[in-house]
Amino acid sequence: MLKISKRLCTAASYVRNGAVVADIGTDHAYLPIYLALENRITRGVASDINEGPISKARENIHKYGLENIIDTCVSNGLDGIEKYEPTDIVICGMGGELIAQIIENSSYVKKQGVRLILQPMTTIRELREYLQSGFSTIDENIVHEDNKLYQIIYVEYDGISREYSDAELELGIKNIENGGELFEKLLCSLISKKQKKLDGMKLGGYDTTEIEKEINEFKMLKRGE
Ligand SMILES: C[S@@+](CC[C@H](N)C(=O)[O-])C[C@H]1O[C@@H](n2cnc3c(N)ncnc32)[C@H](O)[C@@H]1O
Repeated sequence: MLKISKRLCTAASYVRNGAVVADIGTDHAYLPIYLALENRITRGVASDINEGPISKARENIHKYGLENIIDTCVSNGLDGIEKYEPTDIVICGMGGELIAQIIENSSYVKKQGVRLILQPMTTIRELREYLQSGFSTIDENIVHEDNKLYQIIYVEYDGISREYSDAELELGIKNIENGGELFEKLLCSLISKKQKKLDGMKLGGYDTTEIEKEINEFKMLKRGE
């Protein structure tokens, strides 16, 4: 068996049993290897823009004897992915804006029933801003690992446009709905970041109306307040 990080494990939990999974920006290919060893997927493709990660991925796939289940390919984002007909696409460990760009450049993601499982490392708000136009958030999750909080977002294309509030963009509508200890932790860390920004703005004599409104919106989400 292969032990993978909590972050990747949570992303993997959204992949359907029997799926054809595409792991974009796979690096080591741990995610598809883990899913194949768990007998969770029928086929997989480990894809990366760089040769280096793909040769590492190939070595790992060979080590576990999974060449008959997992293909590899060097590709930019989702270019050429339709050839593998993935049902579930995972994009983890990249910046949110890059993930949005990768999705924007592909029409395959609009295919009915295709699941997108995303784990942005940064610019989460920008990713959600992009997803507002046409992607329905089915579920979200928060993982605490290595002293960091990671957000995992599972969406499907439905073509409907939405408009999220500041809090929904930064925390996620499903995370807000689901609540829980990690949600409270994430909320508190965002409030304290915003509070610091507000203090700096006040010192600089800037107009703080907007940020104060945001902080209040965030504080209203604290359970019991
Ligand atoms: C930090 S690693 C993440 C590895 C793994 N997905 C994880 O979350 O642990 C990011 C990987 O994305 C790849 N990458 C960056 N831009 C890409 C793109 N446009 N298309 C495909 N892969 C990309 C990099 O080469 C690198 O291997």
